[in-house]
Amino acid sequence: MDSVTRLGVVGCGLMGSGIAEVAALGGLDVRVAEATPDAVEAGRRRVTASLDRGVQRGKITEEQRDQARARLSFTHDLSDLSDRQFVVEAVAENREIKTDVLRTLDKAVEDSSAILATNTSSIPVVDLAVATERPGQVIGMHFFNPVPVQRLVELVPALTTSPDTVQRTRDLATQLGKQPIQAPDRSGFVVNALLVPYLLSAVRMVESGGARPQDIDQGMELGCAHPMGPLRLLDLIGLDTAQAVAESMYEEFKEPLYAPPALLRRMVAAGHLGRKNGRGFYAYDA
Ligand code: 3HC
Repeated sequence: MDSVTRLGVVGCGLMGSGIAEVAALGGLDVRVAEATPDAVEAGRRRVTASLDRGVQRGKITEEQRDQARARLSFTHDLSDLSDRQFVVEAVAENREIKTDVLRTLDKAVEDSSAILATNTSSIPVVDLAVATERPGQVIGMHFFNPVPVQRLVELVPALTTSPDTVQRTRDLATQLGKQPIQAPDRSGFVVNALLVPYLLSAVRMVESGGARPQDIDQGMELGCAHPMGPLRLLDLIGLDTAQAVAESMYEEFKEPLYAPPALLRRMVAAGHLGRKNGRGFYAYDA
């Protein structure tokens, strides 16, 4: 099977924009779909700003940035992904929305051997696979934030996923410079199953008045050499995303350590979503 040259990315938020950027820098023709023209423009700005930062930091040359930009196209119509060989959906962590996107993609993408991958963090991949007519070609492909930096991709085959789909997805991950690991199709896969209870424990520590956010974060940064403490990391992930992931994991296992603490729910209700909108456990420049 030829390697992927035409990639589709659905959703251009934190994760989708990172996936699109990495793929365009890696030489792929990337078409990015968002729900509305406004969302398309916001997504385009996000990718462009990140490529510009890459130039400012000396990570890529101006020529590489310009070539990557030329390989990117944007649409608000999923049917414009009809010629794609591989599509990664990275829309909001919401079962109904993801199911709807996969169903629509299944009809829109003409090549019946094309793979539809989901960047879900916690929704069972098999539930999304059986919503399509090609469950053998649906797989979890879970990237980590910030996508241009984190080297890991979790490959999550569902019970229905064919070995050929796993191999082609592994090849694509490698082509993008990522290191794949195979993870079970259980909510949270490998990394979030270990990470989420730790992050939620930090929220509970704040909630109970046990420690201040900056002391918790410094504790883990200086004491355990984590690049960022748990509350700073929650702000990076997005508190709404973290809550959605925790809810899926709790729904599957009924494990109290996975239940989103009240403080997290209240912060999401208040619109304190983390770095992406300027306020979470810390305040950020908008
Ligand atoms: N794009 C490209 N490069 C970036 C970047 C971005 N968005 N953000 C940071 N970088 C690069 C910088 O250029 C720099 O490179 P250099 O060391 O070669 O100069 C390096 O990353 C470090 O960046 P900074 O010096 O600006 O900042 P920090 O040293 O504070 O690092 C960080 C920032 C990379 C975010 C680091 O703190 C980190 O790795 N944090 C942990 C992130 C993590 O755990 N992610 C996983 C979250 S879980 C998840 O995503 C799963 C989901 O399902 C919830």
